[in-house]
Amino acid sequence: MSTPIDPPITHAEIRRFAEDRVNLDRETAKERREKVGALREQLKKYMTEHPTCGLAKSYLSGSLAKGTALKTCSDVDVALYITYDGEKKVDAKLLNWIAERLRKAYPQMSADQIKPKTYSVGIEYKTAGIEIDVVPVFYEGDPKDRGLLVSQDDGSTLMTSIPMHLEFIRKRKSAQDTHFVQVVRLIKWWAAEQKAKDANFRFKSFMVELICAHLADNGQDFSDYRKGMEAFFNYVVSTGLKKRIAFKDYYQPSELPANSTGIVEIFDPVNAKNNVASQYTENHRRLIVDAAQDALNALIEAHTSSTKADAVAMWQVVLGTSFRG
Ligand SMILES: Nc1ncnc2c1ncn2[C@@H]1O[C@H](COP(=O)(O)OP(=O)(O)OP(=O)(O)O)[C@@H](O)[C@H]1O
Ligand SMILES: [Mg+2]
Repeated sequence: MSTPIDPPITHAEIRRFAEDRVNLDRETAKERREKVGALREQLKKYMTEHPTCGLAKSYLSGSLAKGTALKTCSDVDVALYITYDGEKKVDAKLLNWIAERLRKAYPQMSADQIKPKTYSVGIEYKTAGIEIDVVPVFYEGDPKDRGLLVSQDDGSTLMTSIPMHLEFIRKRKSAQDTHFVQVVRLIKWWAAEQKAKDANFRFKSFMVELICAHLADNGQDFSDYRKGMEAFFNYVVSTGLKKRIAFKDYYQPSELPANSTGIVEIFDPVNAKNNVASQYTENHRRLIVDAAQDALNALIEAHTSSTKADAVAMWQVVLGTSFRG
């Protein structure tokens, strides 16, 4: 017989799971930022001493910079702004050109620690337990640091600005201190669970952040994590991700393309012509919407479960079997 007095999963339990399992802990994040910070300082010194080397500046980008990193991730993204004479496309020549300069800037590293990857140059930093992905940005001196970022999805180039993205996210973060990034991380965790189950499932972290930003801008309160996640899944299910998302921070809506740019349209806050989801097919869209529907049903059921065990089982649909309540 069920015991109806058992409470469903509380916000505090979700928060504890997030803090214990999902989030990259503060200490490690701080340590990694410091280590990458020291490497960037060394690079800056090299650039100053070699003003014609073709390297202009670097930024910590990606989740470590935004405060959205998961515990399971050891990748650190660094955007490297380069002034490059050759063709502005990513190929072995470009990646070797970058690797060569990084090896000079970091003489303490062995040459095989710095290796060209598919669309970036990897720095294996074993003692710090991290792998740094140095992502090229072709730069021509824009004062807002707009440049052509090499997409890590397909090697194409995208006009955008890393520091403007950081400013964009920081704005949402400061409007809902800790809660905005916490809901982002929980949704990224959910997406990682889906990816583990289905190799065709895709949901880029930046897209998750932009959807959360859209919800926050429209008044969604993220301080209750269950409600925040439910709002996210509800948005995905009710729109089918067929509604355009765009932001007014850095351009007017009139600058957006008049015609469709893809099955899913989530525009870069920095560039009205850059649809971050342009590569998502109808199949990708459907997989996301179906998984969001399952998650939404599970959350609703969890909330009305009469036993804790039932509620835990439902939350496991969303957060995976490592969630024990
Ligand atoms: N399609 C894109 N258009 C513009 N900028 C992009 C695009 N893809 C990635 N970026 C830039 O790269 C950064 C990192 O990408 P992304 O959000 O996918 O990874 P992440 O935040 O490091 O998450 P993860 O934890 O999955 O590594 C973004 O914050 C954004 O600045
Ligand atoms: Mg990353």
